[in-house]
Amino acid sequence: MKERLNELRQDALGVIAGCDDLKALEDIRVRFLGRKGQITEILKSLAALPAEERPAAGQAANETRDALSQALDARKTALEGEAEARRAVESACDFSLPGRTGFPLGHTHVLNQVAGEIVGIFSEMGFQVAQGPDIESEYYNFDALNTPSDHPARDSHDTFFVKPGVVLRTQTSPVQIRVMERAKPPVAVVVPGRVYRVDNDATHSPMFFQLEGLLVDEGVTFTDLKGTLMKFVQAFFGPDTQIRFRPHFFPFTEPSAEMDILWTAVDRQTGAVKSRWLEVLGCGMVHPEVFRAVNYDYERYSGFAFGLGLDRIAMVRHAIGSISHIYENDTRFVEQF
Ligand code: DAH
Repeated sequence: MKERLNELRQDALGVIAGCDDLKALEDIRVRFLGRKGQITEILKSLAALPAEERPAAGQAANETRDALSQALDARKTALEGEAEARRAVESACDFSLPGRTGFPLGHTHVLNQVAGEIVGIFSEMGFQVAQGPDIESEYYNFDALNTPSDHPARDSHDTFFVKPGVVLRTQTSPVQIRVMERAKPPVAVVVPGRVYRVDNDATHSPMFFQLEGLLVDEGVTFTDLKGTLMKFVQAFFGPDTQIRFRPHFFPFTEPSAEMDILWTAVDRQTGAVKSRWLEVLGCGMVHPEVFRAVNYDYERYSGFAFGLGLDRIAMVRHAIGSISHIYENDTRFVEQF
Protein backbone atom coordinates (compact mmCIF):
# COMPACT_ATOMS: atom_id res chain seq x y z
CA MET A 1 0.00 0.00 0.00
CA LYS A 2 2.78 2.37 1.03
CA GLU A 3 4.64 1.72 -2.21
CA ARG A 4 1.57 2.38 -4.28
CA LEU A 5 1.01 5.66 -2.49
CA ASN A 6 4.64 6.69 -2.97
CA GLU A 7 4.54 5.93 -6.66
CA LEU A 8 1.30 7.79 -7.02
CA ARG A 9 2.71 10.76 -5.15
CA GLN A 10 5.86 10.95 -7.31
CA ASP A 11 3.78 10.56 -10.41
CA ALA A 12 1.33 13.28 -9.38
CA LEU A 13 4.01 15.76 -8.25
CA GLY A 14 5.75 15.37 -11.62
CA VAL A 15 2.55 15.98 -13.54
CA ILE A 16 1.70 19.05 -11.39
CA ALA A 17 5.19 20.56 -11.80
CA GLY A 18 5.04 20.09 -15.57
CA CYS A 19 1.60 21.63 -15.92
CA ASP A 20 1.54 25.21 -17.23
CA ASP A 21 -2.15 25.76 -17.77
CA LEU A 22 -4.77 26.51 -15.11
CA LYS A 23 -7.47 24.47 -16.83
CA ALA A 24 -5.20 21.44 -17.11
CA LEU A 25 -4.24 21.88 -13.45
CA GLU A 26 -7.89 21.64 -12.44
CA ASP A 27 -8.18 18.40 -14.45
CA ILE A 28 -5.21 17.03 -12.54
CA ARG A 29 -6.87 17.91 -9.24
CA VAL A 30 -9.97 15.98 -10.26
CA ARG A 31 -7.87 13.07 -11.49
CA PHE A 32 -6.19 12.60 -8.12
CA LEU A 33 -8.36 14.22 -5.46
CA GLY A 34 -11.80 14.35 -7.07
CA ARG A 35 -14.69 12.18 -5.91
CA LYS A 36 -13.52 9.41 -8.19
CA GLY A 37 -9.91 10.43 -8.04
CA GLN A 38 -7.09 8.01 -7.46
CA ILE A 39 -6.37 9.06 -3.88
CA THR A 40 -10.03 9.07 -3.02
CA GLU A 41 -10.32 5.53 -4.37
CA ILE A 42 -7.43 4.45 -2.17
CA LEU A 43 -8.98 6.05 0.90
CA LYS A 44 -12.21 4.20 0.17
CA SER A 45 -10.35 0.90 -0.22
CA LEU A 46 -8.90 1.23 3.28
CA ALA A 47 -12.09 -0.22 4.70
CA ALA A 48 -11.18 -3.56 3.15
CA LEU A 49 -7.85 -3.78 4.97
CA PRO A 50 -7.29 -5.84 8.13
CA ALA A 51 -7.93 -3.67 11.19
CA GLU A 52 -4.31 -3.58 12.40
CA GLU A 53 -3.03 -2.21 9.05
CA ARG A 54 -5.70 0.43 8.70
CA PRO A 55 -4.36 3.25 10.91
CA ALA A 56 -0.88 3.32 9.32
CA ALA A 57 -2.26 3.03 5.81
CA GLY A 58 -4.85 5.69 6.56
CA GLN A 59 -2.20 8.09 7.83
CA ALA A 60 -0.01 7.50 4.74
CA ALA A 61 -2.95 8.07 2.41
CA ASN A 62 -3.95 11.27 4.21
CA GLU A 63 -0.39 12.58 4.05
CA THR A 64 -0.25 11.89 0.34
CA ARG A 65 -3.57 13.65 -0.20
CA ASP A 66 -2.39 16.70 1.77
CA ALA A 67 0.92 16.84 -0.06
CA LEU A 68 -0.77 16.76 -3.46
CA SER A 69 -3.33 19.31 -2.38
CA GLN A 70 -0.55 21.67 -1.30
CA ALA A 71 1.41 21.12 -4.48
CA LEU A 72 -1.71 21.86 -6.54
CA ASP A 73 -2.39 25.07 -4.62
CA ALA A 74 1.20 26.27 -4.97
CA ARG A 75 1.24 25.55 -8.69
CA LYS A 76 -2.07 27.33 -9.12
CA THR A 77 -0.75 30.44 -7.37
CA ALA A 78 2.37 30.41 -9.52
CA LEU A 79 0.42 30.03 -12.78
CA GLU A 80 -2.00 32.81 -11.82
CA GLY A 81 0.98 35.09 -11.05
CA GLU A 82 2.55 34.37 -14.42
CA ALA A 83 -0.69 35.02 -16.25
CA GLU A 84 -1.14 38.30 -14.43
CA ALA A 85 2.39 39.44 -15.27
CA ARG A 86 1.88 38.52 -18.92
CA ARG A 87 -1.35 40.51 -19.09
CA ALA A 88 0.37 43.56 -17.55
CA VAL A 89 3.19 43.46 -20.08
CA GLU A 90 0.89 42.88 -23.04
CA SER A 91 -1.42 45.75 -22.16
CA ALA A 92 1.45 48.17 -21.39
CA CYS A 93 3.43 47.92 -24.60
CA ASP A 94 4.63 45.55 -27.20
CA PHE A 95 8.41 45.52 -27.02
CA SER A 96 8.65 43.70 -30.32
CA LEU A 97 7.28 46.71 -32.28
CA PRO A 98 9.86 48.76 -34.19
CA GLY A 99 10.52 52.29 -32.80
CA ARG A 100 8.31 55.04 -34.18
CA THR A 101 10.46 58.19 -34.08
CA GLY A 102 14.06 57.03 -33.91
CA PHE A 103 16.62 59.21 -32.21
CA PRO A 104 16.37 62.95 -32.98
CA LEU A 105 19.60 64.09 -34.63
CA GLY A 106 20.91 67.62 -34.39
CA HIS A 107 22.24 69.54 -37.35
CA THR A 108 24.12 72.73 -38.14
CA HIS A 109 22.24 75.87 -37.10
CA VAL A 110 21.04 78.05 -39.98
CA LEU A 111 23.42 80.84 -38.97
CA ASN A 112 26.41 78.50 -38.98
CA GLN A 113 25.29 77.12 -42.33
CA VAL A 114 25.33 80.64 -43.78
CA ALA A 115 28.64 81.53 -42.08
CA GLY A 116 30.24 78.30 -43.30
CA GLU A 117 29.07 78.85 -46.85
CA ILE A 118 30.34 82.45 -46.97
CA VAL A 119 33.70 81.55 -45.42
CA GLY A 120 33.95 78.76 -47.99
CA ILE A 121 33.39 81.18 -50.87
CA PHE A 122 36.12 83.53 -49.63
CA SER A 123 38.52 80.66 -48.86
CA GLU A 124 38.26 79.60 -52.47
CA MET A 125 39.36 83.10 -53.44
CA GLY A 126 42.44 82.74 -51.18
CA PHE A 127 41.25 84.41 -47.96
CA GLN A 128 42.30 82.86 -44.64
CA VAL A 129 40.16 82.79 -41.51
CA ALA A 130 41.28 84.96 -38.58
CA GLN A 131 39.79 85.39 -35.10
CA GLY A 132 40.01 87.91 -32.28
CA PRO A 133 38.67 88.35 -28.72
CA ASP A 134 35.04 89.28 -27.96
CA ILE A 135 36.20 91.43 -25.03
CA GLU A 136 38.28 94.07 -26.70
CA SER A 137 40.17 97.20 -25.72
CA GLU A 138 38.78 100.54 -26.88
CA TYR A 139 42.07 100.94 -28.66
CA TYR A 140 41.44 98.04 -31.06
CA ASN A 141 37.70 98.54 -31.32
CA PHE A 142 37.87 102.30 -31.97
CA ASP A 143 41.17 104.25 -31.75
CA ALA A 144 43.28 102.16 -34.10
CA LEU A 145 40.32 102.17 -36.49
CA ASN A 146 40.52 105.95 -36.73
CA THR A 147 37.38 106.48 -34.69
CA PRO A 148 37.59 109.77 -32.77
CA SER A 149 37.04 109.76 -29.02
CA ASP A 150 33.81 111.75 -29.38
CA HIS A 151 32.32 109.45 -32.01
CA PRO A 152 28.69 108.61 -31.09
CA ALA A 153 29.27 104.86 -31.46
CA ARG A 154 31.55 105.06 -28.41
CA ASP A 155 28.66 106.17 -26.24
CA SER A 156 27.47 103.77 -23.54
CA HIS A 157 24.04 103.93 -25.17
CA ASP A 158 25.51 102.00 -28.09
CA THR A 159 28.47 100.11 -26.66
CA PHE A 160 28.68 97.67 -23.73
CA PHE A 161 31.55 98.76 -21.52
CA VAL A 162 33.18 96.01 -19.43
CA LYS A 163 35.22 98.64 -17.59
CA PRO A 164 36.81 101.93 -18.66
CA GLY A 165 38.85 101.26 -21.79
CA VAL A 166 37.43 97.76 -22.30
CA VAL A 167 34.33 96.95 -24.37
CA LEU A 168 32.43 94.03 -25.84
CA ARG A 169 33.53 94.51 -29.43
CA THR A 170 30.89 96.32 -31.47
CA GLN A 171 32.28 95.06 -34.78
CA THR A 172 34.72 92.49 -36.14
CA SER A 173 36.86 95.32 -37.58
CA PRO A 174 39.35 95.35 -34.61
CA VAL A 175 40.59 91.99 -35.87
CA GLN A 176 41.88 93.87 -38.94
CA ILE A 177 44.31 95.67 -36.60
CA ARG A 178 45.30 92.49 -34.77
CA VAL A 179 46.00 90.69 -38.06
CA MET A 180 48.05 93.54 -39.53
CA GLU A 181 50.08 93.91 -36.31
CA ARG A 182 51.18 90.32 -36.67
CA ALA A 183 51.68 89.95 -40.43
CA LYS A 184 53.22 91.91 -43.27
CA PRO A 185 51.37 92.28 -46.59
CA PRO A 186 50.07 90.56 -48.59
CA VAL A 187 47.19 89.89 -46.21
CA ALA A 188 43.80 88.40 -47.10
CA VAL A 189 41.55 87.36 -44.23
CA VAL A 190 37.91 86.91 -43.35
CA VAL A 191 36.79 87.10 -39.72
CA PRO A 192 33.46 85.57 -38.69
CA GLY A 193 32.46 86.32 -35.11
CA ARG A 194 30.12 87.65 -32.46
CA VAL A 195 29.66 91.37 -31.92
CA TYR A 196 27.65 93.29 -29.33
CA ARG A 197 25.58 96.45 -29.30
CA VAL A 198 23.00 98.04 -27.02
CA ASP A 199 20.16 97.34 -29.41
CA ASN A 200 17.13 95.10 -29.34
CA ASP A 201 14.20 94.96 -31.79
CA ALA A 202 12.89 92.85 -34.69
CA THR A 203 16.02 93.37 -36.76
CA HIS A 204 18.57 93.98 -33.98
CA SER A 205 19.85 91.71 -31.26
CA PRO A 206 22.31 92.79 -28.51
CA MET A 207 24.58 90.00 -29.75
CA PHE A 208 24.83 89.19 -33.43
CA PHE A 209 27.30 87.94 -36.00
CA GLN A 210 29.44 89.75 -38.50
CA LEU A 211 31.95 88.70 -41.07
CA GLU A 212 34.84 91.04 -41.73
CA GLY A 213 37.07 90.97 -44.81
CA LEU A 214 40.48 92.55 -45.31
CA LEU A 215 42.86 92.42 -48.24
CA VAL A 216 46.10 94.41 -48.37
CA ASP A 217 48.81 94.28 -51.00
CA GLU A 218 50.61 96.55 -53.43
CA GLY A 219 48.34 98.09 -56.04
CA VAL A 220 44.95 97.06 -54.61
CA THR A 221 42.14 99.26 -56.01
CA PHE A 222 38.41 99.79 -55.55
CA THR A 223 37.95 97.67 -58.67
CA ASP A 224 39.40 94.70 -56.79
CA LEU A 225 36.92 95.33 -54.00
CA LYS A 226 34.01 95.42 -56.42
CA GLY A 227 35.19 92.34 -58.29
CA THR A 228 35.69 90.35 -55.08
CA LEU A 229 32.28 91.30 -53.69
CA MET A 230 30.59 90.64 -57.03
CA LYS A 231 32.06 87.16 -57.08
CA PHE A 232 30.87 86.55 -53.54
CA VAL A 233 27.34 87.78 -54.29
CA GLN A 234 27.05 85.66 -57.42
CA ALA A 235 28.28 82.57 -55.58
CA PHE A 236 26.02 83.10 -52.58
CA PHE A 237 22.83 84.74 -53.92
CA GLY A 238 22.92 83.45 -57.51
CA PRO A 239 24.78 84.23 -60.75
CA ASP A 240 22.29 86.87 -61.95
CA THR A 241 22.18 88.92 -58.75
CA GLN A 242 22.72 92.62 -59.35
CA ILE A 243 24.63 94.86 -56.95
CA ARG A 244 25.04 98.59 -56.45
CA PHE A 245 27.39 100.73 -54.35
CA ARG A 246 26.25 103.84 -52.48
CA PRO A 247 28.75 106.32 -51.06
CA HIS A 248 28.87 106.14 -47.27
CA PHE A 249 31.11 107.02 -44.37
CA PHE A 250 33.16 104.75 -42.12
CA PRO A 251 36.08 106.14 -40.07
CA PHE A 252 38.42 103.31 -41.09
CA THR A 253 37.89 103.38 -44.87
CA GLU A 254 38.20 106.09 -47.48
CA PRO A 255 36.38 106.13 -49.79
CA SER A 256 33.61 104.11 -48.15
CA ALA A 257 30.46 102.59 -49.56
CA GLU A 258 27.48 100.47 -48.72
CA MET A 259 26.65 97.65 -51.08
CA ASP A 260 23.08 96.64 -51.92
CA ILE A 261 21.79 93.62 -53.80
CA LEU A 262 18.66 93.56 -55.91
CA TRP A 263 16.66 90.97 -54.05
CA THR A 264 13.63 89.31 -55.56
CA ALA A 265 11.14 87.71 -53.21
CA VAL A 266 7.59 86.45 -53.37
CA ASP A 267 5.23 88.42 -51.11
CA ARG A 268 3.68 85.84 -48.80
CA GLN A 269 0.35 87.62 -48.58
CA THR A 270 -0.28 88.64 -52.18
CA GLY A 271 1.96 86.14 -53.98
CA ALA A 272 3.35 89.03 -56.04
CA VAL A 273 7.01 88.86 -57.06
CA LYS A 274 8.82 91.98 -55.92
CA SER A 275 12.39 93.18 -56.36
CA ARG A 276 13.98 95.72 -54.07
CA TRP A 277 17.43 96.94 -53.16
CA LEU A 278 18.67 95.54 -49.87
CA GLU A 279 21.72 96.76 -48.03
CA VAL A 280 24.04 93.85 -47.28
CA LEU A 281 27.41 95.26 -46.25
CA GLY A 282 29.72 98.20 -45.64
CA CYS A 283 33.07 98.46 -47.36
CA GLY A 284 35.81 100.73 -48.58
CA MET A 285 39.52 101.29 -49.10
CA VAL A 286 41.57 100.99 -45.90
CA HIS A 287 42.19 104.47 -44.45
CA PRO A 288 45.85 105.64 -44.30
CA GLU A 289 45.39 106.31 -40.56
CA VAL A 290 44.63 102.64 -40.04
CA PHE A 291 47.83 101.67 -41.88
CA ARG A 292 49.71 104.17 -39.75
CA ALA A 293 48.41 102.49 -36.56
CA VAL A 294 49.90 99.14 -37.63
CA ASN A 295 53.10 100.54 -39.16
CA TYR A 296 52.22 99.66 -42.72
CA ASP A 297 53.76 101.92 -45.38
CA TYR A 298 50.64 103.52 -46.86
CA GLU A 299 52.61 104.92 -49.79
CA ARG A 300 53.45 101.38 -50.84
CA TYR A 301 50.38 99.38 -49.82
CA SER A 302 46.68 99.75 -50.32
CA GLY A 303 43.82 97.53 -49.34
CA PHE A 304 40.10 97.07 -49.08
CA ALA A 305 37.89 96.00 -46.21
CA PHE A 306 34.27 95.02 -45.82
CA GLY A 307 31.94 93.98 -43.05
CA LEU A 308 28.61 92.19 -43.32
CA GLY A 309 25.96 91.10 -40.86
CA LEU A 310 25.59 87.32 -41.02
CA ASP A 311 22.18 87.39 -39.32
CA ARG A 312 20.89 89.85 -41.84
CA ILE A 313 22.13 87.74 -44.74
CA ALA A 314 20.51 84.62 -43.24
CA MET A 315 17.27 86.57 -42.77
CA VAL A 316 17.27 87.79 -46.37
CA ARG A 317 18.02 84.41 -47.85
CA HIS A 318 15.46 82.51 -45.79
CA ALA A 319 12.86 85.29 -45.43
CA ILE A 320 13.14 85.22 -41.64
CA GLY A 321 11.00 88.00 -40.18
CA SER A 322 12.65 88.56 -36.81
CA ILE A 323 16.26 88.19 -35.71
CA SER A 324 15.12 86.79 -32.36
CA HIS A 325 14.10 83.54 -34.11
CA ILE A 326 17.76 82.93 -34.83
CA TYR A 327 18.70 83.02 -31.14
CA GLU A 328 15.65 81.56 -29.39
CA ASN A 329 16.48 78.05 -30.62
CA ASP A 330 12.85 77.02 -30.79
CA THR A 331 13.09 73.64 -32.50
CA ARG A 332 10.06 74.46 -34.67
CA PHE A 333 12.26 77.15 -36.20
CA VAL A 334 15.68 75.51 -36.33
CA GLU A 335 14.30 72.30 -37.81
CA GLN A 336 13.23 74.17 -40.96
CA PHE A 337 16.80 74.64 -42.15
N1 DAH B 1 32.37 97.66 -38.94
C1 DAH B 1 31.26 98.21 -39.71
C2 DAH B 1 29.99 98.10 -38.91
O1 DAH B 1 29.94 97.32 -38.00
C3 DAH B 1 31.08 97.45 -41.01
C4 DAH B 1 32.20 97.75 -41.94
C5 DAH B 1 32.08 98.78 -42.82
C6 DAH B 1 33.34 96.99 -41.91
C7 DAH B 1 33.10 99.08 -43.71
C8 DAH B 1 34.39 97.27 -42.79
C9 DAH B 1 34.22 98.32 -43.68
O2 DAH B 1 35.52 96.58 -42.80
O3 DAH B 1 35.25 98.61 -44.55
O4 DAH B 1 29.04 98.77 -39.19
